Amino acid sequence: MNRDVDHTPGQAGPAGSGTSTTGGCSLISPFGGRLVDLVVHDSDERAALLERAQNLPVVPLSLRAQYDLEMLAVGAFSPLDRFMGRDEYESVLYEMRLEGGELFPIPLAVPCREEVLRGHPKEVALSDEEGAVLALLEVDEVYPADVLREMRAVLGGRDSAHPLVVEAKRWPNHYLAGRPRVFDLPRHRLHGPMCLTPAALRARLTAMRNATVVAFQTRNPMHRIHEELTKRALQTVGGTLLIHPAVGVTRPQDVGAALRVEAYEVLVHNYYDPSDTLLSLMPLAMRFAGPREAVWHAIIRRNYGATHLIVGRDHAGPGPDSHGVPFYGPHDAQAMAEHYSHEIGVKTILARELAYLTDEDRYVELNEVPHGARVSSISGTQVREEYLATGKKLPEWFTRPEVAEVLQRAYAQAGRATPGA
Ligand code: ADX
Repeated sequence: MNRDVDHTPGQAGPAGSGTSTTGGCSLISPFGGRLVDLVVHDSDERAALLERAQNLPVVPLSLRAQYDLEMLAVGAFSPLDRFMGRDEYESVLYEMRLEGGELFPIPLAVPCREEVLRGHPKEVALSDEEGAVLALLEVDEVYPADVLREMRAVLGGRDSAHPLVVEAKRWPNHYLAGRPRVFDLPRHRLHGPMCLTPAALRARLTAMRNATVVAFQTRNPMHRIHEELTKRALQTVGGTLLIHPAVGVTRPQDVGAALRVEAYEVLVHNYYDPSDTLLSLMPLAMRFAGPREAVWHAIIRRNYGATHLIVGRDHAGPGPDSHGVPFYGPHDAQAMAEHYSHEIGVKTILARELAYLTDEDRYVELNEVPHGARVSSISGTQVREEYLATGKKLPEWFTRPEVAEVLQRAYAQAGRATPGA
């Protein structure tokens, strides 16, 4: 394994570059130079702001908006430090840039119903769905949400089968802009302690004493193929492997986070080396924006301390559209992530598609499959419908037995978990 690969980003892009030194190991600096922190840490200030929030109009946040608030507050979207005003929002839709010029491909604002805005409040309280106040928002701006136009810009289309389009049709019709002061990170999470903030994860990575950090994004249970992808990437690049699953909103038909987390833990515990692999969860609400989302994932992972991001086939793709055709080409996300890699300062590891050779019991890259060789695969839909739902055992070539056992037990107990649960 080569551990001496040059990891230094070395780019002088507009969003800043270079490394930060903590405890002897120089991790890559956050995108834009510093981590945003919108959490109110001082207890007196927190008490005063909370009291002020009691008399303000309340904007209840959907689960998605709560995850967005959390990611923004902990600095995962650095250098973004506020919900976007209209000009910035338009710039992100059409230029993929914040007002300061930094690359940022996904818009972020607080969806809000019109009735809350009567009286033109200058401040509002942001709450979870049960009414617990999470943050105070100084309202810089209110503007109408044209979600289908937004979908066209961000997703490249507004096909009715896209999970974000389906969801967006139910969103309130105004957006609020402003900088939130956050009291409590949302309480709905089952796995809070495993969701290390960028600062906490950086401390853990620093303690592992290797500034090369290869991040792996996933929204699915990790099967043998994902294990192969990650281990091949680590072998090529060296450093620390960061297994960093998104446990915020995914597609309704995906295996929910509640089922996935135990499976990640058992896999990492049994099949990875703790001296070079770290598992941490990330409260990201996915958009399934394919290429744009891959760029976003790279920016976010830099904030968490990664120098490399694995991007494979159809990264962050939503599946087929209403005509049964995939929304994005299998390599579109790789192409866009690679295009912006230098500017972001995160190298893209372009993972080739792997295939399982049935008779040789091993994985190879698709272009290395010998002529006439038998190849086996099981799709995500098959996993859910033919195996988990019926109790049929997943084969060992496909999933480690410990992982299969967890998924099957959890699925039998809970059925299909609520996304984000
Ligand atoms: S994603 O929405 O998080 O991208 P998923 O969890 O399925 O979805 O994939 C995680 C990562 O593994 C992505 O980078 C994806 O492109 C890659 N990947 C998944 N399956 C394969 C495969 N068979 N070949 C190559 N890359 C893959």
